[in-house]
Amino acid sequence: MLKSFSQDTFEAIPSPCFVLEDEKLRRNLKRIDSVQKRAQINVILALKGFAMWSSFPLIKAYLKGATASSMNEAKLCVEKFSALAHTYAVGYRDEEFDELMKLSSHVTFNSLNQFHKFQDRVPAHISMGLRVNPEWSDVTVDLYNPAHAHSRLGLISSSLPEALPPNIEGLHFHVLCESSAAALVQVLENFETKFKKYLPNIKWLNMGGGHLITKEGYDVELLVDTLKYFKKKYQVEIILEPGGAIAWQAGFLKTTIIDIVENEGSPTAVIDASFTCHMPDCLEMPYRPEIMEGSHHAKKQPFRYKIGGVSCLAGDFLADYSFSKPLKIGDTLTFLNMMHYTMVKTTMFNGVNHPSIGVIRADHTFELLKTFSYQDYRDKLS
Ligand SMILES: Cc1ncc(COP(=O)(O)O)c(C=O)c1O
Repeated sequence: MLKSFSQDTFEAIPSPCFVLEDEKLRRNLKRIDSVQKRAQINVILALKGFAMWSSFPLIKAYLKGATASSMNEAKLCVEKFSALAHTYAVGYRDEEFDELMKLSSHVTFNSLNQFHKFQDRVPAHISMGLRVNPEWSDVTVDLYNPAHAHSRLGLISSSLPEALPPNIEGLHFHVLCESSAAALVQVLENFETKFKKYLPNIKWLNMGGGHLITKEGYDVELLVDTLKYFKKKYQVEIILEPGGAIAWQAGFLKTTIIDIVENEGSPTAVIDASFTCHMPDCLEMPYRPEIMEGSHHAKKQPFRYKIGGVSCLAGDFLADYSFSKPLKIGDTLTFLNMMHYTMVKTTMFNGVNHPSIGVIRADHTFELLKTFSYQDYRDKLS
């Protein structure tokens, strides 16, 4: 799976380390760009999913902008992506709002309260939108389902007035997560039923993220056809803002086994990284990453181990993985598909150090970009 570079390159990578593979990122971007061009829409990067800014020059060659969900993301967008942000936050803070507007090209409000409170402080050149909730999603885990019952995310149709406020130029929805094109079709059916009357009066429709365009088997043709149809029917500019899809299968987390502990015949390989600190979706979603050295199926190989994180959280482990031979201290375990929702979500719980960050370039060489130290831990506290 990782055979695009040599063993020597792999050995040069320190442990633990998040490693982006430039060429895999480029492959994803090309696929997304082809959708963008064929459907005549704009795809922007959701920074909440992937914000490894050293890769922004590469991303910018294909995507024009990014979406920010906080002041920090908006600052990063301007400083490192050299673009004004499409800003949407669940709530804006009084003391930040004016500065946020200097960093934004679009601003979307999550409620009418927020719209009424801030609309007069939005400069004329910034396009305003409202987030709506189509009340349908294919996501079954509530933690990741913005359309769950009584969700705070976006306005349901019954809470909107007969006509949109005249200064609202766009609508925004986000209800998908690692979803298919068929799921988008169903969202759009619900969206149309509930919000059709507003569509003649808006300029843009942001269909959020959750479109896993870069996953093998994703029906790109269906996506393109659906977007073209919708765009033609309502004459709106369409924006997609995926995060996960941008860096899908474009990098890994290299770790090392630092201990193997036994408890009544059930061994755990303890690694120099942590699920709760560095790969939180593995516990929250929950999501079982593949590893290069073994199988994430407990029974595929003869030797079974739990993989344990180095924090003291009791649940910081993943249940059995299997291997072709017994594991030993010092072995490498490489977690695949670890670029999205990892670096942006990590913590230093227990004072556990952050994995280094590096990149494998197109010429297959490894470049170490960043290491972390005690100072990083100390400086986030006071
Ligand atoms: C409003 C919004 N847009 C875009 C995204 C990106 O979604 P994904 O990374 O699943 O594509 C999210 C993710 O939570 C989101 O909340």
